[in-house]
Amino acid sequence: MTEIIDGNAVASEIRTEIADCVKTLEDGGVTPGLATVLMSDDPASDTYVSMKQQDCEEVGINGIHVEIDPDAPAEELFDTIDRLNDDPEVHGILVQLPVPDHVAKRDVIRAITPEKDVDGFHPENVGRLVAGDARFKPCTPHGVQKLLAAYDIETEGADVVIVGRSDIVGKPLANLFVQKAPQGNATTTICHSRTEDLEAKTSSADILVAAAGVPEFIDGSMLQSGATVIDVGVNRVDADTEKGYKLVGDVEYESAKEIAGAITPVPGGVGPMTRAMLLYNTVAAASEQTGVEIELP
Ligand code: GUN
Repeated sequence: MTEIIDGNAVASEIRTEIADCVKTLEDGGVTPGLATVLMSDDPASDTYVSMKQQDCEEVGINGIHVEIDPDAPAEELFDTIDRLNDDPEVHGILVQLPVPDHVAKRDVIRAITPEKDVDGFHPENVGRLVAGDARFKPCTPHGVQKLLAAYDIETEGADVVIVGRSDIVGKPLANLFVQKAPQGNATTTICHSRTEDLEAKTSSADILVAAAGVPEFIDGSMLQSGATVIDVGVNRVDADTEKGYKLVGDVEYESAKEIAGAITPVPGGVGPMTRAMLLYNTVAAASEQTGVEIELP
């Protein structure tokens, strides 16, 4: 029987433990604060940010949301970031990506003070992650590690194949998997659009992570029997539904489920874990900045 990995359930447990961290911080006189900044009119980005704000409310984190007109000059975003950097009530800052073309993403990432960079995207934090001294593990890779741990899926000595080399998922996740650390010690391969004979690589994976951003790119025929399949993709595809679309992953779920030993659904797999780990990084940031100690899950 294929095990369906329930990200909602694992994320819910983590949120409960984070709510305890928030109580500890409150007892120490600190309300953790997360600022989200949206400079986009993309409906999916708007939905993601709203969900992050809802999550904050649920666990007692003070959510601050700033919206900037996507046509506004870049300075408006940089001024906002400066203000949030200086605000002692804000412990974490997340600027939802992508930003408009006239705003340099690279500069946005560098403008956020590394201590408040709960995405873990600032070069200082990327460097620390690669060096095995992470300040903030990026939320999706961290969520994938926590999911595997929750289901006792061993990474040590496993052949892990990641399809996708993004700065947000593929690269940091590969760096975590190769570390000499829990949920690490894996033999890790990153595949991408120029990989030759992709199927030869994916079918050798004990753990296959699909993070290419291409709907249903990986199907059952590309998998090793019994593999663990982690689907990071969230793609809106046209469908005859009320909203006019449905969400599918980067994995063709029905065929993959027949071959995999364990698999994450979309939605309800990695997505809720990403959101939970943002809360994790926010309470970690609040603790670090205020000296109030907490026990993170
Ligand atoms: N856009 C898509 N995923 C992410 C993420 O993890 N963080 C930010 N800031 N923007 C995103």
